Amino acid sequence: MFYEVYPRSFMDSNGDGIGDLKGIASKMDYLKWLGVDAIWITPCFPSPQVDFGYDVSNYVDIDPMYGTLGDFDRMEDQGKKDSVNIVLDLVVNHTSDQHRWFLDSEKSKTNAYRDWYIWRDGKGPNQPPNNWTSLFGGSAWQWSDQTSQYYYHFFYPQQPDLNWRNPKVKDAMFDVTRFWYKRGVVGFRLDAVDTLFEDPNLTNNPVLPGKDAYGQPNQERKYNTNLPEVMQVLAGLRTVANQYNAVLIGETWTNTVEELKRYYGAHHEGIQMPMDLAFTKIPPPLSADAFRRHIAGVVGSGEWPVWVMSNHDIVRAYTRFGDGKNNDSIARVLAAMYLTLPGTPILYYGEEIGMQNNDPTRKEDVKDPIGRLGWPQEKGRDGERTPMQWDDTPNAGFTTGIPWLPIPTSYQTHNVATEEKEPGSILNFYRNLIALRKSNKALLDGDWVALNPDDPNVLSYLRRYKDQAVIVVLNMSPNDHNVSLDLSKQGFKNARLKTLLTMWGGGQSLPTLQLSPYAVYIGEVVKK
Ligand code: NOJ
Repeated sequence: MFYEVYPRSFMDSNGDGIGDLKGIASKMDYLKWLGVDAIWITPCFPSPQVDFGYDVSNYVDIDPMYGTLGDFDRMEDQGKKDSVNIVLDLVVNHTSDQHRWFLDSEKSKTNAYRDWYIWRDGKGPNQPPNNWTSLFGGSAWQWSDQTSQYYYHFFYPQQPDLNWRNPKVKDAMFDVTRFWYKRGVVGFRLDAVDTLFEDPNLTNNPVLPGKDAYGQPNQERKYNTNLPEVMQVLAGLRTVANQYNAVLIGETWTNTVEELKRYYGAHHEGIQMPMDLAFTKIPPPLSADAFRRHIAGVVGSGEWPVWVMSNHDIVRAYTRFGDGKNNDSIARVLAAMYLTLPGTPILYYGEEIGMQNNDPTRKEDVKDPIGRLGWPQEKGRDGERTPMQWDDTPNAGFTTGIPWLPIPTSYQTHNVATEEKEPGSILNFYRNLIALRKSNKALLDGDWVALNPDDPNVLSYLRRYKDQAVIVVLNMSPNDHNVSLDLSKQGFKNARLKTLLTMWGGGQSLPTLQLSPYAVYIGEVVKK
């Protein structure tokens, strides 16, 4: 089970209001207690922090704000003691404009690093080379006075895109991964892989109706995302990873299962763990139908799924699906779902205690630049990045200083220390679920079979490994429901249930389970 740590917000050891590596090290025992096998730490490398670390100015060091390489080694050692491995975040698409490679590249048309980035002439005075827009607002082309050319940036202007058609870029980035593998990291989460390549002819993107949050006409990013060349880079990164027995997780935004499947590679030469980020696009409210259909598609691909509910770029699932009345129960239903599916779940820090979004209400409070550029339509990502809530003391035990983002008042009830003590808390529910999935062969390696596929309210499925089977029954509605399960087709004609974990589900027996609102029932199917 993987767990995403946003280092600015996890634990502050020195009172500057920003989390750091010593802080993470001090919480390894907690991660072990929760059952985490590996943490993915979002970029902690030197960076001007325009995009909070996703603008890297040196890939082989630690930002002083987070500590030193020595702190990194100590954090990793602590992790090893607690069986928590480290996965780093590799920003492959772009660097910071303060990276040595870019500073050189910008200087002259003939310098050795010129072709490490994408430089082009404009179409005329004040006219960029084509109509491509940045995901973060405005044209994707930035003028540079030094050589009177434009450079390309899919994200902020301070994040120039690397030119992956240059073999030197590839070699340099592969070396970066080797540096960290040798230091003991077990893998990488690859940032923004879809945008590594652009059409060399710079064909204009088709324009779509409407405008984006920044006032630009919408466009279909046909010529600058998802180019087939991406797979060659991923396969190359995989070859290096294989030499170190490492894992590659992908930030892979897809629209279809076919697109997701592509990332594994036709012969599994791609990445082992492309995240199913389409899962995060399933709209609220909870819908057994929508989740069933989606899960069936992904599981049906035959690949190893990677489930994500929340991350540092999207509104927390607790807030997305919460109805304001049953939020904690809904959070448990979601957990019971994505932690009992085949594959690997990636938790976002704080999800396990029911952390909610805390979105800014005034433009002047926004820290994330896209929130200032796109206000009020785009409020930025501050809301899902607030400090981890460790206890009910001021600043939720995150810092002795002033936290870099405000903490929602819900920290008084939703925090680790309080929830650890309550057997029925979201935290203990997560912990029990994680322990269960680790110890149960059917949940770990079993097939997934949808039960009662037409039930619009209750999501039920069977996980089966050889003669072991577990049913998961989740009432996704605010009403009582009875479900009748016929397991004879699955080879369980005369069977009884042994409860493994339940919430509002009570003891149950086949064939009819009686479920209160948002009940969770997980039970072993035992032949009589
Ligand atoms: C995806 C990251 O998750 C996001 O936070 C970042 O802004 C962009 N990539 C650009 O690196």
